[in-house]
Amino acid sequence: MYLYLGSQSKSFLNCCYKDVISLSLRKLSNTMDVLITGGAGYIGSHTIIEILTHTDWNPISVDNFNNSTPKTYDRIKEITGKSIKHYDIDLKNIDRLRVVFEENNIQGIIHFAAHKSVPESVDKPLEYYTNNINSLINVLQLQKDFKVPYFIFSSSCSVYGSTTALPVTENTPIGKTECPYAYTKVVGEQIIIDVAHIEKDLNYIALRYFNPVGAHISGKIGELPNGVPNNLIPFITQTASGIRKELTVFGSDYDTVDGTCVRDYIHVSDIANAHVKALEYLQKETQATNFDVFNLGTGIGVSVLQTIQAFEKSAGKPLNYKLGERRPGDIAKIYANTEKSATILGWKAEKSIDEMMDSAWKWQQNLDNQSL
Ligand SMILES: NC(=O)c1ccc[n+]([C@@H]2O[C@H](COP(=O)([O-])OP(=O)(O)OC[C@H]3O[C@@H](n4cnc5c(N)ncnc54)[C@H](O)[C@@H]3O)[C@@H](O)[C@H]2O)c1
Repeated sequence: MYLYLGSQSKSFLNCCYKDVISLSLRKLSNTMDVLITGGAGYIGSHTIIEILTHTDWNPISVDNFNNSTPKTYDRIKEITGKSIKHYDIDLKNIDRLRVVFEENNIQGIIHFAAHKSVPESVDKPLEYYTNNINSLINVLQLQKDFKVPYFIFSSSCSVYGSTTALPVTENTPIGKTECPYAYTKVVGEQIIIDVAHIEKDLNYIALRYFNPVGAHISGKIGELPNGVPNNLIPFITQTASGIRKELTVFGSDYDTVDGTCVRDYIHVSDIANAHVKALEYLQKETQATNFDVFNLGTGIGVSVLQTIQAFEKSAGKPLNYKLGERRPGDIAKIYANTEKSATILGWKAEKSIDEMMDSAWKWQQNLDNQSL
């Protein structure tokens, strides 16, 4: 027997159906299981702390420790007093990953896990494409199979390429990317857009981070660079602690406040907090579209020399640095327009460059005092 529904009745039923779904999601939301891929890593671990501190959600980490250590989970417990469930699984192995979805009632996913080094990606493009793209596809496949309603993706301001339109808004066109790493983020976002187009009941956000720096205020967790750091702040702290002899500032003749490159540094705990806000926003189910993208920055451009001065103030000693040649691929300046995140997510970065440097230095000193 066929039941004919006129368009009005259909939309009434759709409406009821959506209400029932959203009600049940809301009911689950207080204690929902949230899958954190890459939860032992730099930003993932800070986000787990933010979740444990500010929500009733139950974070579950999947990480294969290719750029981290399981000790991070102990440190999270030291800081929060809470243990979290975690799995040592490579996301490229979908069969093993499926078990995580079978064993838990996952309602939200924050997908951090990826290789992230720009120069390494130039040397090992296949490794970067394989890891970053296959991991994302597997997580999205299981999200779809298990109908997990909320998905947040770690993207990057590197998708804007070498844009000169500043500050960068979310409508700034995706630029020509400088390296395979950045291209994995461009492709990653496109894959999500295509999936979201079909999976109308599932909701997706891509967060484009500018330059995450600093460490948890306790100094017990922070960035753990593998080998020689590619990023400025770990290079600064390692130079100050004597691991590196000298810092070279790449280029001092750019058209900027003091000739050195300008970036939008943002405290990692502010970045972590944005993930909580983004997931809360998705839970409200008021969004106009099931895929959206947000910049995460402070909106303030800080030069390399200004960063060094802030660090010297925090450490209370001068840093051994010299001015050198420009480095290929560096753009003069980039910083975010953060209005969209403020208006829609109700999120704003709060920590200053001094707090970023204080915490980074505290973390480095803790690292120096123990074998982490
Ligand atoms: N840190 C930055 O400057 C920055 C800037 C923009 C975007 N991002 C993005 O944010 C995310 C997190 O960055 P991060 O700085 O915390 O990096 P990170 O290397 O500290 O953390 C990533 C974690 O993912 C894990 N991982 C990688 N591949 C995996 C796999 N196949 N299976 C299981 N685990 C895997 C690593 O072991 C690591 O613990 C990444 O996607 C990165 O591209 C980072």
